[in-house]
Amino acid sequence: MKVILYVFSGTGNTLKVASLIKKFMNADVTVYRVSAKSGNAPSPEGFDLVGFGYPIHAFCAPEPILKFAQGLPEVAYRRAFIFKSSGEGLHLNDASSQSLIRILTKKGYDVTLERHVVMPYNMIYRHSDEMAKQMWIYAKAYVKLICGELESFKRENVKLPLYKYFLANIIGWVETKFAHLHGPMFKVDANKCVECGKCERTCPENNITLEKGVYKFGHNCVLCMGCSFGCPADAINVGVFRFWKVNGSYRLEELANDDSILFPLVPYKAKGIYRLYKKYYREIDEMLEKAGISVEEYV
Ligand SMILES: Cc1cc2nc3c(=O)[nH]c(=O)nc-3n(C[C@H](O)[C@H](O)[C@H](O)COP(=O)(O)O)c2cc1C
Repeated sequence: MKVILYVFSGTGNTLKVASLIKKFMNADVTVYRVSAKSGNAPSPEGFDLVGFGYPIHAFCAPEPILKFAQGLPEVAYRRAFIFKSSGEGLHLNDASSQSLIRILTKKGYDVTLERHVVMPYNMIYRHSDEMAKQMWIYAKAYVKLICGELESFKRENVKLPLYKYFLANIIGWVETKFAHLHGPMFKVDANKCVECGKCERTCPENNITLEKGVYKFGHNCVLCMGCSFGCPADAINVGVFRFWKVNGSYRLEELANDDSILFPLVPYKAKGIYRLYKKYYREIDEMLEKAGISVEEYV
């Protein structure tokens, strides 16, 4: 089976999920990163299965993956699936793919499965090492399960009632417009900046330019947070989101291999905000048990 994954990812979480699919699936898997910097995307023709990956932004799919899907050619028939990553498993996130599903269905794609993998927050607050470790270990086991579902042609109804589509559409539209408007409020602190150029090089929307020695942020921002999350000097001020900024990679593989970090944190010892994750992990535990997959294999 030949599989193509079209992935938009601001800070790498969704790409990490894509790399797990590539690793665990008994198939020839190509990963294409949706970005203004990526060059021409491979055509879906010639692939048996097409996957679409994105991070949830304000309970919706971000603009780049929707635009990308709109630009795809129509197909006579193509089996497709969606995988999304986000910082929490709340059901508020459930309707995030509805716009994408409608775009794809109109183009002839048959979306047979949608899966949601919880990964560490790249905004709002930094997850603890324990939480990040748990998220990554569970992501591996869960993606293994998802790959089995895809290989056995599992099909689920992915369409939700029309009002959820409209609701998600409205929230997504507001978030996108706000992101564009707010874009120029991102600023680089010249006292901290080490002039490595990483922000400019990696911005998926080509929204950062160096003008007369000063980094300028334009109106194409989609709030992916790639620039501020990845800045090695933590030199980027993110405007009104400054209290929600998260800077620096989570080193997930290192955390997963560190025996001194408590595992699992949730659901057994969850306190405070972590209680929000209990339902997600309980559901995954049940699915893994049914599929005969042990999380311990991924510790
Ligand atoms: C602008 C923005 C909005 C977000 N909104 C949500 C949200 O509504 N729900 C959620 O669970 N996580 C939300 N997140 C967290 C991301 O979805 C999560 O960290 C994701 O794994 C990031 O993936 P990426 O590294 O591929 O960009 C948001 C992140 C950003 C930057």
